[in-house]
Amino acid sequence: MKSLIVKNNEAKEGIMGYEKNKPNKYFNVALEKLFFDSTISYPYDADNNATIAKVYPYSNENIADVYAGMDLRGKRVLTVGSSGDQLFEFVCKGCRAVVLIDANILSQPFIELKIAAIKNLSMFEFMDYLTKENIFKHRYYWKVCNDLSPKSREFWDNAMLEYEPKIRETIVNNMVHNNFAINDRKFVNYLKSMTVYETLRNNLSSCKINFINSAFNDFDKKSRGKYDLIVLSNISDYIETNNFFSTVDSLGKSRLNDGGKMQVYYAFLEIPRYTGGFVDSLKESFGIQCGNVSGMEKKSINALRDRSLVGDNVKATTILLDKEFFDTYTFVGTKEYQLEN
Ligand SMILES: C[S@@+](CC[C@H](N)C(=O)[O-])C[C@H]1O[C@@H](n2cnc3c(N)ncnc32)[C@H](O)[C@@H]1O
Repeated sequence: MKSLIVKNNEAKEGIMGYEKNKPNKYFNVALEKLFFDSTISYPYDADNNATIAKVYPYSNENIADVYAGMDLRGKRVLTVGSSGDQLFEFVCKGCRAVVLIDANILSQPFIELKIAAIKNLSMFEFMDYLTKENIFKHRYYWKVCNDLSPKSREFWDNAMLEYEPKIRETIVNNMVHNNFAINDRKFVNYLKSMTVYETLRNNLSSCKINFINSAFNDFDKKSRGKYDLIVLSNISDYIETNNFFSTVDSLGKSRLNDGGKMQVYYAFLEIPRYTGGFVDSLKESFGIQCGNVSGMEKKSINALRDRSLVGDNVKATTILLDKEFFDTYTFVGTKEYQLEN
């Protein structure tokens, strides 16, 4: 099996689009792990600011509802890479540029495969292809692979060379989370209508898309420029609270355009009653202390989730903060926001 993996020094210019002197070390390390470990653990590799973790094949957040009504035409967005579904939602809405940032190095080859599939397949072919059973179907892969970047092409070419069903299964199981099923696609507009899918395909050619590999703590340092929308999904569930808020604070202050918003949190529950206003709900959910603040948006959305995932219908809540919030408040220490001076 090992011999199937093209090492950096074997990569030749011209063959399958490899670029000389552009090492693909991490993708190859990742692929080796997917091949050989029956259960991969996800150590964070501080030296490389990266981790190898399972990718979400589709978003489990109700992004269609969260961003409904938000005008993103011509805007610039920074979002966690995740499954790429956040990207697709924003591209449908006519964004000028989207920067995908994620610590998981598998996020890029997976999202690139989805982008290439959207460019080259009909909506029904896409839904047939992006399944556990068919992701190794060569007839689809040959239709889409020319739209992969050289390093993602190398990653997938090597994976596609594997014919042994058991190993293929290991790769898929190691690479993607379980919500790889038809009813986990209900939160995205581009798979609800062929018209939206076509809009997405057309817009993909004009939207500038970049990938940044970074751990959350470095998001501010690594994400160049300013954005109209920053999307952090439920990343706070994965991060120690203090680190989370200090990075959110610096992102909010230095990376948001005037009028911009940050999606700070997605909770898979209804954050208890907003009776005391949004600030109270922030208090309750994050344990932070702050006074009254205006100009913030709250949204409690009805995200009907799969019974098998959560047992019952639950509400979900997302928190969007305006740039104004960050201009007014500063994170000063553990669990505390204070008015600046
Ligand atoms: C928070 S997860 C959850 C997926 C999400 N619920 C969705 O629907 O897409 C989204 C992404 O955050 C990334 N992530 C988690 N912890 C991170 C960290 N400390 N630094 C950078 N990215 C991180 C994961 O790799 C994953 O791709």
